[in-house]
Amino acid sequence: MIVAGLSGANGLDLTISNLLKAKLAKVDLRKFPDGETYVRFHDDLSDENVVLIQTTYPEQDRRLVELLLSVDTAKDLGCRKVIVVAPYLAYSRQDRRFLDGEAVSIKTILKLLGSAGADYLITVDVHKAESLAYFPGKAINLSPTSAFAEALKEVVSNPVVIAPDQGALNRAAELAKQLHSSEYFVFRKFRDRVTGMIRHEVLEVDISDRDAVIIDDIVSTGTTIASIASYIRDRGASKIYVVCSHALLVGDAFNKLASSGVSKIYALNTLATPNGVEVVDTAPLISDAINNLVRS
Ligand code: R5P
Repeated sequence: MIVAGLSGANGLDLTISNLLKAKLAKVDLRKFPDGETYVRFHDDLSDENVVLIQTTYPEQDRRLVELLLSVDTAKDLGCRKVIVVAPYLAYSRQDRRFLDGEAVSIKTILKLLGSAGADYLITVDVHKAESLAYFPGKAINLSPTSAFAEALKEVVSNPVVIAPDQGALNRAAELAKQLHSSEYFVFRKFRDRVTGMIRHEVLEVDISDRDAVIIDDIVSTGTTIASIASYIRDRGASKIYVVCSHALLVGDAFNKLASSGVSKIYALNTLATPNGVEVVDTAPLISDAINNLVRS
């Protein structure tokens, strides 16, 4: 087996190749002066299982093109199977036609990966697991809940877990269970599909003098979490922690969360995060999944 990290590997290529005791490939990745992407493998890939690690955080489109070129090239070079590891899978939120005429973006991305030659896809806490059905091969969605529970269990006291929308309900329920049957609450979120503005329903939560853990898959602008955090801060929560798998934290999201009362953000290393975020390593989870896959 050979592990190859692309531009968005975020160090996971090195850690995962060590954990798997697999060779780390040498790959040249460049941009031509006009912006086109260049990929070249230096290793003999023939008859190897090739693990391509590319987490597709911004610039998503460039990283996706790099990944597509790499999958197709690995197949051209005679590799046995291509296992794509995309810990953060871009476009996963556009998983249906919310407004007439919209692209179902995740469908297109997964179809392209399959037609380029990807045999397997491993991702972490994808926005909706059902959307992986668009991938023609076998797709695996890894849950980071145990890793988060492990990181939090000595930190929180008498916690309440909060889902900022219906989509995070299962994540909240599972984390609450793993934090020894803490209570959980689910807010309802309404998004204006044209302006992108959100509002939350008012939900009476008894949280005074308790720690709150808000869980979501993605924090992008921070608007969703900040809205909930300031609401529960005003209802007397002691400490507010945020647990998110993919901390995109675009623009001033980090400061927005801090000023809404968030004490600490826990996020996976599925993408690069700013200083101040408590990083939870996802490499052991991914390497176990790769091991199980090649053994099966
Ligand atoms: C959407 O349903 C996702 O699960 C997140 O809640 C959303 O992407 C967060 O976005 P933002 O941080 O921009 O509010």
